[in-house]
Amino acid sequence: MERVFNFAAGPAAMPEEALAIAQKELLCYGSTGMSVMEMSHRSKAYQAIFDKTEGLVRDLMHIPEDYSVMFLQGGATGQFAAVAMNLIGKTGKADYVDSGNFAHGAMVEAKKYGEVKCVASTEASNYTSIPTLNKADFTPDASYFYITTNNTIFGTRYSELPDTGDVPLVADMSSNILSEVYDVKKFGAIIAGAQKNIGPAGFAIVIADRKLFGHALPCTPSVLDWKIMDKKGSMLNTPPTYAIYMAGLCLEWLKNQGGVEAIEQVNIEKAKVLYDVIDNSDFYRGAADPASRSRMNVTFFSPSAELDAKFVAEATASGLANLKGHRLVNGMRASIYNSMPMAGVKALAEFMKKFEMENK
Ligand SMILES: Cc1ncc(COP(=O)(O)O)c(C=O)c1O
Repeated sequence: MERVFNFAAGPAAMPEEALAIAQKELLCYGSTGMSVMEMSHRSKAYQAIFDKTEGLVRDLMHIPEDYSVMFLQGGATGQFAAVAMNLIGKTGKADYVDSGNFAHGAMVEAKKYGEVKCVASTEASNYTSIPTLNKADFTPDASYFYITTNNTIFGTRYSELPDTGDVPLVADMSSNILSEVYDVKKFGAIIAGAQKNIGPAGFAIVIADRKLFGHALPCTPSVLDWKIMDKKGSMLNTPPTYAIYMAGLCLEWLKNQGGVEAIEQVNIEKAKVLYDVIDNSDFYRGAADPASRSRMNVTFFSPSAELDAKFVAEATASGLANLKGHRLVNGMRASIYNSMPMAGVKALAEFMKKFEMENK
């Protein structure tokens, strides 16, 4: 069977080149005589893989030396708790922007550990846009201010970062990390599940300014304590060794594409191809407000739920997989992370036009 264009939201498509290298190295990695999966995480060979992967993250995102880069288990959801446990202790307070299901979940999790203020929410409109922020609502002595840069389910993205002054900005970048240029210095911490734009599922990347360490709540489990995990090089215990190796292959591929600066331009073009089809049609309707549109998750509807189902079924039969929208939105969602080639996006655009003609 041929590989399809996989529009899944995560776990998601990975670069074919990276998968092919993994296939070649599956049984024997280099001169080790064993698979990466079989290596001790304390071995020299594995440490080199780990260091290379961390180096690529630092290089691709231009991460300053005084920021820690960690690969931690428990996914982005584990980090919802870790953010609060590590940071809220400074003043006991934190601000959250409720821009989607995961932002909401992070906020609910944080409420277990301190005084959490929801400074803005678009829940009432089912998160079709990024909330409008009013600085007067921000808590001046918050330990941190939390946003979700890209809302995977609803297909929205911040086009501008909030100015939080001296309050550290913390971002869940799970679905748009490495897809566009961000100045890491503007953030106190960044968390991201790996399974969308980094590599396979199995860990979250945490990028954190070490200056913020030292306020972990006493109840913080060691595996979620950033200061401890930073000191231990993410290896207090066994890390997800193979997932980190695979992420390294994907990041190497990204570097070969010209890095984040180059892929951002491709991502802008890819998203435009799909939004142009939606905007030039009176058949399709975008789910997100145009000003808040995501470049990674394009959400849209056909004129009816029946046609949505037909669209997804026929697209799947045409080799365009996983286009069904999330149940909180319905309709369709095309996730077009870094690894989705322009050819896949163009194939989807052509399919959309054909489907419109046949079903209008
Ligand atoms: C923006 C965002 N945050 C958090 C998560 C949760 O990630 P995980 O499943 O790694 O906990 C997701 C998963 O889809 C997501 O899209």
